[in-house]
Amino acid sequence: MFATVLHNLKSPENTGLILRTHVAFGGEHFVMVGPEPWRFKKRTQAFSRRLERISSIVYLPDDDALFTWCQAEGFAPIGIEIAENSTLLPKFQFPDRPAIIVGHEGRGLSDAFLRRCAGVVTVPQFGPVGCLNVAVSGSLALYELNRNRPLERPIEGHRFCVGESERVDCVDKPDARVPLAVPTGLCGEPHP
Ligand SMILES: C[S@@+](CC[C@H](N)C(=O)[O-])C[C@H]1O[C@@H](n2cnc3c(N)ncnc32)[C@H](O)[C@@H]1O
Repeated sequence: MFATVLHNLKSPENTGLILRTHVAFGGEHFVMVGPEPWRFKKRTQAFSRRLERISSIVYLPDDDALFTWCQAEGFAPIGIEIAENSTLLPKFQFPDRPAIIVGHEGRGLSDAFLRRCAGVVTVPQFGPVGCLNVAVSGSLALYELNRNRPLERPIEGHRFCVGESERVDCVDKPDARVPLAVPTGLCGEPHP
């Protein structure tokens, strides 16, 4: 199992995208570090598909709280960042219970922060651009972490099967037999 950590992210779109990837790969906790709890409004939800409603969301105010939480929960903090003494993603041996941490869109993760991590991982780049989008790099790390897991869900048509009781539109009405809000399934709608 793993946790995904957003370190002071600002963009609703990036937040929603990473949350959706986190859920798709079966993450345990979605941790948001920042001074205020995140408010999931329309711009985030356009990308999260409202999956925050079925996620364990943990809000932590600062770095000390994050590293204390990781220790208490048995997670190894792994910084995803471009850094000189990092391991390239394809070579990285993930620990059993990693907390995958991505950084602020402008500032990234500081060297001081990375020194407190159990590992630092860089996604290799080959073309003339300084860095990747944070949601892309986080998603690549989550894919790499999970890519050897046996496939747990069957594919039906163009979707992975999702049990009715797991679906976000049933969260507020556990007895609902027929979902109302997403009639064609979580991947049936057009999306941004
Ligand atoms: C846009 S970058 C931060 C800005 C960057 N440090 C700079 O100076 O331009 C935002 C976040 O994306 C992630 N990131 C982007 N490219 C990455 C790469 N090649 N490898 C690992 N993480 C990356 C890191 O988590 C980083 O903190």
